[in-house]
Amino acid sequence: MSTRQETWLITGGAGFIGANFVHLAHAQSNAKLVILDALTYAGDMTRMETLLNDPRVVFEKCDLVDAQAVHAVFVKHQPDHVIHFAAESHVDRSILGPTAFIKSNIEGTAHLLMAAKETWNGQWDGHRFVHVSTDEVYGTLAPNDPPFSEESQYAPNSPYAASKAASDHLVRAWHQTYGLPAIITNCCNNYGPWQFPEKLIPLFVSNAVEEKPLPVYGDGMQVREWLHVDDHCEAIMTVLQKGIPGEVYLIGGGAELPNIEIIQEICKSVDQLLNRSDGDTSKLITYVEDRLGHDRRYAISGDKILRELGWEAKRPFNEGLYETVKWYLENTQWVENAKSGAYRDFYESQYKNRLDGAGKVS
Ligand code: NAD
Ligand code: TYD
Repeated sequence: MSTRQETWLITGGAGFIGANFVHLAHAQSNAKLVILDALTYAGDMTRMETLLNDPRVVFEKCDLVDAQAVHAVFVKHQPDHVIHFAAESHVDRSILGPTAFIKSNIEGTAHLLMAAKETWNGQWDGHRFVHVSTDEVYGTLAPNDPPFSEESQYAPNSPYAASKAASDHLVRAWHQTYGLPAIITNCCNNYGPWQFPEKLIPLFVSNAVEEKPLPVYGDGMQVREWLHVDDHCEAIMTVLQKGIPGEVYLIGGGAELPNIEIIQEICKSVDQLLNRSDGDTSKLITYVEDRLGHDRRYAISGDKILRELGWEAKRPFNEGLYETVKWYLENTQWVENAKSGAYRDFYESQYKNRLDGAGKVS
């Protein structure tokens, strides 16, 4: 049996899901892990500080928008597989400034596909290109609609979702046209440790600690399906090992809940963990002007990945959420560091008028 060590190129490995995947891949494989990341505001190497002394983990600071730099990483490392997480990922930022989404998510993915095609050069055996995407490409569901499935029509509503949809189409085209052994996964909302504190759960825990308003968009009745990031990473590992090139797998099986219920759960956990009186934290809930084009509901059918690859989510949401809130309360220094610098400008643009409108100070 061959003992050749594989090389996995993990783009966006310094981000929330990518870094959690790097930890899983380090624990479960003996592959050399090449992390390609531009270290945008969302990238942070402290997420994998404990792994960086291991020669099996290599970091390449590289912007996917720079085609030549991407090509050079392929020439240098000759990866067996690509697991593509890197993207601009926050819907609110895509509404404030779509350009970076078009560049990183669309152009960046194209550069990666071109470099993989050139490097593997038709010798597809033993190679996989796993493209990590989102359920948001399918748009929004009415309350009684069946969940999204692999047959759902693309109908992206936000600039973020549109840029991810475009990247999915590019990946599909590289498989259909050239035979590149690519697989697309579309996952629901992730939660867990190391998420950048602009997303709902870490933002609300952080504001709750600082006794700042918790800005609920619109009526707070938008529904999301939430999956623990470790479940998502295990699903991607399964797809890498057993997935069929050209196929699409939806990853869900989490909890489908309206935002306000999650927010109430966060408040309860914070009260408990910080020894506050019951109901103290929920007094910070502030209804603010809605997000533009806000999708009402996402939900996922995980039937195909269970039936064909035997994967299903393991972590119960209530336990996972409580542990996640606890993690953010124990890692306030990391959250504070993430929120310093340019983040303040984003927070001001996103929330100042909304909170002023609600009679609160941001
Ligand atoms: P994130 O914003 O936390 O991390 C993104 C990472 O990509 C960062 O490290 C950033 O530096 C890097 N990056 C961005 N632009 C780059 C570029 N041009 N070149 C190189 N690196 C670049 O995002 P995340 O939440 O970890 O999401 C990872 C992937 O999973 C994304 O593709 C996202 O669309 C997808 N996804 C996310 C969720 C979710 O709930 N977070 C759900 C489904 C799918
Ligand atoms: P988010 O974490 O940004 O993920 P996504 O937009 O990809 O689903 O938001 C999750 C939900 O929480 C979404 O319906 C928007 C809502 N939300 C708020 O109500 N207030 C906030 O400040 C944020 C960041 C999100």
